[in-house]
Amino acid sequence: MNGLLRWAPQSASNFADGLDALSWFLMGVSAFFSILVIGLIIFFAIKYHRKSEDEIGTPVPSPLWIEVTWSVIPLIIALIAFAWGTKTYLNYFNPPEDTLNISAIGRQWMWKFQHPDGRREINTLRVPVGKNIKLTMISQDVIHSFYAPDFRVKMDVLPGRYTATWFRPTKTGTYFLFCAEYCGTDHSQMRGSVIVMEPEAYKKWASYGEDTPADLGESLFRTHGCASCHSEQGTGPGPKLEGLFGSKVIFEGAEPQVADEAYIRESILFPQKKVVKGHPRVMPSYQGRLSEDQVMALVSYIRSLANEPKGGEE
Ligand code: CUA
Repeated sequence: MNGLLRWAPQSASNFADGLDALSWFLMGVSAFFSILVIGLIIFFAIKYHRKSEDEIGTPVPSPLWIEVTWSVIPLIIALIAFAWGTKTYLNYFNPPEDTLNISAIGRQWMWKFQHPDGRREINTLRVPVGKNIKLTMISQDVIHSFYAPDFRVKMDVLPGRYTATWFRPTKTGTYFLFCAEYCGTDHSQMRGSVIVMEPEAYKKWASYGEDTPADLGESLFRTHGCASCHSEQGTGPGPKLEGLFGSKVIFEGAEPQVADEAYIRESILFPQKKVVKGHPRVMPSYQGRLSEDQVMALVSYIRSLANEPKGGEE
């Protein structure tokens, strides 16, 4: 099916069939009750309309069983929709553990992507079929929205804050990519394509990358002198960064939090917001001194330190 006859975009990700089934369920329920209610209105209007000028209506008591039935059945249907929708939502907002992490930066008016092997692209996103893809996204200016209808993936891309989305492409091909948030004159031109490739082809393509984001992050880490405080031994004033990513961090006067991309970014740009317990409040802000690309690179580097085997342990 294509063209005007197609009801929904193609199904090209793990989310597509489940989301479509939920949409059809909701539309089916709506259609059923619309037809039922309109049908009964017409039926009753014909059956019970006043037959003569002086006819007087008689009140009809409504039995309890009918009141209970038409309350309980819609309640059950609403609860099914709630449970189903919640399950879908939680699945969408909790990416799995084993993901291919790609960073995305939106700006007026283009999409920039960087792959873990270092390869960069603009307005095209290449991904391997069958792998979980996680996008960590930020905007350099206004609000954009990453929208790939064939994958049923849509997520706002905000200035000043990371958002993330994930999907698992289920078939190879080229799919639309749109910006779904009005972002200025050329909003409608802010589009591109997602190319889903065979894993081997993707691997080959990605291997032509230059420095990986983690390598770039490591050199930024050195040139900005971060290592003098965040030493590997954990002896400096700053917290040790090895093993930090994904772990739970305890703060001085703030709720504990799992260290994710957003937390790392916040700590680089607004280090005073949350200070790790047992460390002095001395880190300067790097706001305005690093571009979003550079912050992304540092985040990738710190993420790469999560489970890195230390020398001698191998
Ligand atoms: Cu970017 Cu609309």
